[in-house]
Amino acid sequence: MRPVKVGLLGLGTVGCGTVNVLARNADEITRRAGREIQIAMAATRDLNRPRNCATATFELTQHPETVVEQPDIDVIVELIGGERPAKELLLRAIASHKHVITANKALIAEHGNEIFEAARRHGVMVAFEAAVCGGISIIKAIREGLTGNRIEYIAGIINGTTNYILTGMQDRGQEFAAVLNEAQKLGYAEADPTFDVGGVDAAHKLTILAAIAFGIPLQYDKVYTEGISDLTREDIRHASELGYRIKHFGIAKRTPRGIEMRVHPTLIPCRRLIANVDGVMNAILVYGDAVGPTLYYGAGAGADPTASAVVADLVDVVRALTTDPENRVPHLAFQSGALTDVDILAPDDFETAYFLSLTAIDRPGVLADVTRILGDLDISIEAILQKEPQAGESVVPVIILTQKTTEKFMNDALAKIESLDSITRPVKRVRVEDLG
Ligand code: NDP
Ligand code: HSE
Repeated sequence: MRPVKVGLLGLGTVGCGTVNVLARNADEITRRAGREIQIAMAATRDLNRPRNCATATFELTQHPETVVEQPDIDVIVELIGGERPAKELLLRAIASHKHVITANKALIAEHGNEIFEAARRHGVMVAFEAAVCGGISIIKAIREGLTGNRIEYIAGIINGTTNYILTGMQDRGQEFAAVLNEAQKLGYAEADPTFDVGGVDAAHKLTILAAIAFGIPLQYDKVYTEGISDLTREDIRHASELGYRIKHFGIAKRTPRGIEMRVHPTLIPCRRLIANVDGVMNAILVYGDAVGPTLYYGAGAGADPTASAVVADLVDVVRALTTDPENRVPHLAFQSGALTDVDILAPDDFETAYFLSLTAIDRPGVLADVTRILGDLDISIEAILQKEPQAGESVVPVIILTQKTTEKFMNDALAKIESLDSITRPVKRVRVEDLG
C-alpha cells in the first residue's frame, strides 16, 4: 500500500520531536498503523536555522500554504502554534479534504467549535491529543476509556512550565525568573511565556478537557484564570508548614448549580499523590461515577513526550482513513448534535477552602478583629499561624486556613479585613482543595 504522506507545519521543539520519533520507531509505527507514515514536506520560517532533527528526507519550504495545497499529502500536522497563520492553514487543509493533527491548544480552545464544524462538513478528522498535557493520553482516556461514566470532576496539574517553576522554588529555593528561564531553554514554555505563568495555557487545556468530559461546547471565555506570578517562596514555605504544597491547578467540576471551570494556584494536602508530582510532570485526576477516581501522570511538555502524542494521533488517523466519517470517535467525545448548554458558574459561586496570608501590625486585638469578620460571614477557621516579625519590622505575617465557603463570602470578608487599619497590605488568597 502507498505510504501515508504527511505535511508538517513547524519544525521547532515539537516538530523536530515528531520527525525524530517517527524516524526512530518507524518499523513499530508501521506495524501498528498498517501503513508506512512518511513526512513529505515541512514548512518553517527560517530555512537556514540549524534543526534538532534530520531534514534530508523531505522537502523544506518557507510557505506553509504550499504544504497544505500539495495534492498527494493526506495529513497536515500543525505545530506552528498561535492563532495566525495556524487557523487559516488548518481551515484550508480541512477544505482540501485533508485530515489535520494539531498540538495547538489555543486554537482548539478558542476556535475549536468552528474548526470541528468545518471538519464535520468535509468528512475529515481533527486530532489534538498533544494539545493537552504533552505526552499523557488524557483526551483518549476521557473520550474513549471513560466513555461509560458520568464524569464528576477533573482536577490537576496541566501546565508543565508552572509546575517546573513551583518545584524549583520549593525544592531548590530558586528565584521565579531563573527557573522560568530554565523552562524556556528546555523548550517547555509557550512562545509567549506569560501564557504559562499567567494561566492562559492551562485555561486553554481546561476548556478542552471540560468539553470532552461534560459534553458542553468549548467555552474558553468562561474559565476563571489566575497565574502563579504573585506566589513567593514564603507562601510556599508557609503552606508547607501547614502540611500543604502549592500547585497550579485546572479544575472542572459538576455542581448542582452548574459547572465550575477554574485555573489558579491551589493548596493540596502533602499526603495526596498529586501534591508530589514535580518538575515538568503533569497529573490529572478524573472522577467518574462508575470508575471512581483515576489518575494520569506523565511529561506535560518537551519535544519527545509531545511528539509521542502527535504520532499516536497520526496512527489513529491512518487506522481510521477508510472508516465512515459518521462512525468515527466524535471530536469532543459526544456526538456533535448532542452537546448541552449547562450553566458555567461565575467565580462568586465557587466553593473552596482558603489559605490567607495577611500582613498585620503586631499589637493586641488584631487577630480578634480578623476572626470576628470571618465568623460574622460564617467562615470557619481551620488553622492560624502567626510568624515572627522580620528584623526591624513592626508587622507580622499571619496565615489563616479557612474551611469551605463561597467566593462571594470570601470577597466580602477580604474587603472588610483589608479596610482594618492594622492590616497593612492586600491579603493574598490561595484556594485549597482537599481532593478527598
Ligand atoms: P516552536 O516555537 O519551538 O516551533 C514553532 C515552529 O513553527 C518553528 O519551527 C517556526 O519556524 C515555525 N513557524 C512559526 N511561524 C511560521 C510560519 N508563519 N510559517 C512557517 N513556519 C512557521 O514551538 P513548539 O514546537 O514549542 O510548539 C508548537 C505547538 O505545540 C504550539 O501550539 C504549542 O502550544 C504546542 N505544544 C508545545 C509543547 C512543548 O513542550 N513545546 C507541548 C505541547 C504542545 P522557525 O523555526 O523557522 O522559526
Ligand atoms: N507550555 C506548555 C506547558 C507546553 O508548559 O505545559 C505543553 O502544553
